[in-house]
Amino acid sequence: MLPSSRCRPLRSQPSSDAATPAVSAFYDRFPYPGDPLQDGPPPGYNWRWCVDSVRAFVEGALPPLVAEQRHRPWRILDAGCGTGVSTDYLCHLNPGSSVLAVDISAGALEVARERCRRSAAATQVAELRIEQRSLLDLMDEGEFDHINSVGVLHHLDQPAAGLQALAQRLRAGGHLHLFLYADGGRWEIQRTQTALQLLGVGHGAEGLQLGRELLATLPESNRLRRHHEQRWALDTAADANFADMYLHPQECSYSVERLLAVVAASGLAFAGFSNPEVWDPARLLQGELLERARGLPDLQRWRLIEALDPDISHFEFFLRRGAPVPRQPPTDAELMASRCERNRCLWGWPSAALLGPDLMPLQLTPQELALMQAWEKHPQATLAELPMDLGAGDRCRCLRTLLSERLLHRIQD
Ligand SMILES: C[S@@+](CC[C@H](N)C(=O)[O-])C[C@H]1O[C@@H](n2cnc3c(N)ncnc32)[C@H](O)[C@@H]1O
Repeated sequence: MLPSSRCRPLRSQPSSDAATPAVSAFYDRFPYPGDPLQDGPPPGYNWRWCVDSVRAFVEGALPPLVAEQRHRPWRILDAGCGTGVSTDYLCHLNPGSSVLAVDISAGALEVARERCRRSAAATQVAELRIEQRSLLDLMDEGEFDHINSVGVLHHLDQPAAGLQALAQRLRAGGHLHLFLYADGGRWEIQRTQTALQLLGVGHGAEGLQLGRELLATLPESNRLRRHHEQRWALDTAADANFADMYLHPQECSYSVERLLAVVAASGLAFAGFSNPEVWDPARLLQGELLERARGLPDLQRWRLIEALDPDISHFEFFLRRGAPVPRQPPTDAELMASRCERNRCLWGWPSAALLGPDLMPLQLTPQELALMQAWEKHPQATLAELPMDLGAGDRCRCLRTLLSERLLHRIQD
């Protein structure tokens, strides 16, 4: 079967997927991702796997827990966990929660279990289950507060059915984080896949050897070879990652327009890209052109960016069960009455020199540092109540900066 860039539309809601046998056998052979195992917690953080960071990002502030959530652990599903990199982070970044990680590949799960054992992931959470199951078959699991499914649905024969199955497992107000392939930036990859299929190299060891040989021996000026060397050589150094990119038996990809159509059919609301900087037209345009781009409705603006940037090779985004409530930026009075919590995804805290949630270097002013430290000591205090020598205007100015850099999360009443 040649890889197709068209994802099949949803026909019905099956409890299994036609691609499962080929896909699970592939990942048994090449468990993905091929990240090395290590003792101790995973390095750094990824805020997309920290549920509070996601809630604050999507909702603009940390929404209050509904009554039913206050007396039980937070329920998190990692759907298609592969070798458990995301599961490991989900455990370490969401202490006390209950995590279920599922995958159809026994080979990938074996690595996931070993990864989580070595990082002591289970000691961080109330419960960690790692199970060989399809994400289509979780009807007996009730609802989850948060679902992560990264790089999975585009490997189903019917991705839309997979999305619907996940939508049914998401609690009202909960978030689903997805990562799906984009057509635009995968042109060279899809050509290489097609060539390897036509050469009959298969999906195993021979494919790996001949696939690497192909990309090393095409003429140096060949666009497929150049693109691989410049863009993907590092990412595909591990054999499992090379196989995942070039030898996959089942994958599809989307344009932004088709992506949003599939989302709309799932009944979930699109709640923002998790790499919003990529979708900011100011990255590409200036002056009059930028003004025009900013005036476009969302979908048109995203189509424009997709057209202008042929390197966009994936979409990463959040969906929400129920539309997010649009919020006005808080007034000074609202800020003074606010309580805040530090983002768990900061590197270097407590210090004025930090890496923020996107691992960008940040330098806090003495006032900003003092404010964050005061809140650390007095978590129940409002901005107005924090015992520090700073006037109301300066407090609000500092807090606005810290919120915009996502160092603090405002707690919504
Ligand atoms: C590219 S890997 C992604 C792994 C992991 N989410 C990550 O990004 O690190 C795709 C994974 O999805 C799993 N998968 C594919 N179809 C699935 C299904 N129907 N249910 C559960 N897992 C599935 C595969 O076995 C594979 O491990």
